Order: sequence, then C-alpha cells, then structure tokens
Amino acid sequence: MWGIKMGRIHLYYKVLKYYILGNIVTAGDIGNSYNRVSGGYNEQFLNTMQKYNVVMLSQLNLPKEARVLDLACGTGFNSEWLLSIRPKYQIDAVDISEGMLKQAEMRLGGKASLFKASMLDFLKSCEDESYDRIVCSWALKYQPPAQVLKECKRVLKAGGELGLILNSKNTLPEVRKIYKRLLIKNSKNIKKLMLELPNPKDERQLSHWLKKAGFQETRTFRGMQKFSFASTAAMTEWMTSTGALAGFDVMVDLRDTAVKGQISELFIKYGMSSITHDFVWGIAKK
Ligand SMILES: C[S@@+](CC[C@H](N)C(=O)[O-])C[C@H]1O[C@@H](n2cnc3c(N)ncnc32)[C@H](O)[C@@H]1O
Repeated sequence: MWGIKMGRIHLYYKVLKYYILGNIVTAGDIGNSYNRVSGGYNEQFLNTMQKYNVVMLSQLNLPKEARVLDLACGTGFNSEWLLSIRPKYQIDAVDISEGMLKQAEMRLGGKASLFKASMLDFLKSCEDESYDRIVCSWALKYQPPAQVLKECKRVLKAGGELGLILNSKNTLPEVRKIYKRLLIKNSKNIKKLMLELPNPKDERQLSHWLKKAGFQETRTFRGMQKFSFASTAAMTEWMTSTGALAGFDVMVDLRDTAVKGQISELFIKYGMSSITHDFVWGIAKK
C-alpha cells in the first residue's frame, strides 16, 4: 500500500495532468451524480434544509399572478411551495438531472412545466424580461455564478426579483477534510478532475456578486445548520448520498464499499460526529 506522501505526490501529478488535458468533470457528470442520489435527496438533505428555502421564498414580494422560473429545481420543492400559496403562478422548472426531474414530476403532478437543461442553456434561450420572479436554491455554484446572475438579470422583468440560497465557501469543513484524505488514498483510481466550486465567502460577497450583475436592491443573509448523526455509518451514508459531493464522486467512487469504509475510518480518526452546513441567501430586485 502507498504511504500518504506518495499518494499526495501522485495526486498532485494527476491533478496537474488532467487540468492541462482538460479532463474535467462536466455539467452532465454532475447531473449524473444527482441521478444517483435523487431517490434519497428529500430525506437526507431537503427535509432538514427546506425550512431555509421557505425563509428565502417568504422574503420575495409575491404578487397574486406571476411567471416564475425555478432554476435547478431538483425535486420541485420551491415550485410546490410557491403554488401552495399562489395557485395561479405559471412556473417553469429547469434541472439538468432526469432523476431529480422525475421526483419533481411526482411532487408537482403537472402543475409546473418541467425542462431538462442546464441553467445557462435554459437562461440563454429565454427572451429579455420574460419572468417576474426567479428562484434558485443550492445550485448557483454549478455554473459560473457571474454568468448565471447576469442572465437572470436579463430575463427578469423590470422590478422583478431573484431569490437565491446557496452554500458559503467554507461550508461542510468536515466533508472537505475527509474528501482530501480520500483523494490521496485513492489517487490511482482518479479518472477526471473536479474543480473547486465557486461559492461566496459570506453574505457581503453575495451582495457584491448581485450588484455586479446589475441588480439594484439586494438583501443578503447568512445561516448555519448542523447535521448530527447517531452513528458513523449514518454520517457516511449522508456524505455519500445527499449530493453534497455531486461531481466530486466522479473523482472517487463514493458507492464503492471500500471507499465507504475509508470514510467511516476517517470520521472515527478525526472524532467527527456532525457536519456543519454554512450558507447564505439573498433577494435581489432588478
Ligand atoms: C442541491 S440540489 C437543489 C435542488 C432544489 N433547488 C432544492 O432546493 O431542493 C441541486 C440541483 O441542481 C441541479 N443542477 C446541477 N447542475 C446543474 C446545471 N448546470 N443546470 C441545471 N441544474 C443543475 C441538480 O441536478 C440538482 O437537482
């Protein structure tokens, strides 16, 4: 077995090589990662986090009628919530993962129009000023945020609002620590490079991003949620099945039993029994 030092050298070599060759995880790969976790996503992640989606959605000014875009809609929670208080809303819900869209279809039962596309492809296909509201939760990082925000500003009507909620840069420190170790241990099996995802440092940086994209008024906030686990096995299951590592699971196969064993060992080694989710949200008006 390789020592940590050799593993680290090999990892750096592979990262450099794949970077130069452009052998990098694609938006489609990330969609496939979400296909794999779509069945357990609500239970493992959303049931705990949806209260923050609701906080963000409740801060939007919601007229009786509106055309709404639910970007990276996942299993359709935002659309369902909006329709529950504003049944006349016309909602287009977009996601890159078929698996997540299937869950959204079951939840929404035809009450919103669903589209399989990447956020940027869909936005670019929209006319200027076509939506009254856009919502995007836990997904902005998957495509260059500056481009997505600029497109959102373009397709929103004058006075329209964008509601966002997303991870902050330092979220899930426990997962990141374990993941780095996993990469070193499994450097020989890495086939593609997953680049660090762009998240804002804090609510001030989110506000800066929104203003740079041309939004007039912004209100931004920060929150934190701890996920605590009764056992290491439950924590390992969470790490490998929530989508928290979507895309990163292309570098190291998190379904592999040996890898799951390594994750559990590392949690025990570092004495970890909870995972800290740090996030920001905001409302921006055009
Ligand atoms: C953490 S989930 C959030 C889902 C939903 N917004 C929610 O609040 O539950 C992230 C979603 O982003 C989708 N996604 C990832 N990359 C995407 C892209 N480039 N374009 C569209 N959707 C994407 C995933 O398929 C997944 O459904």
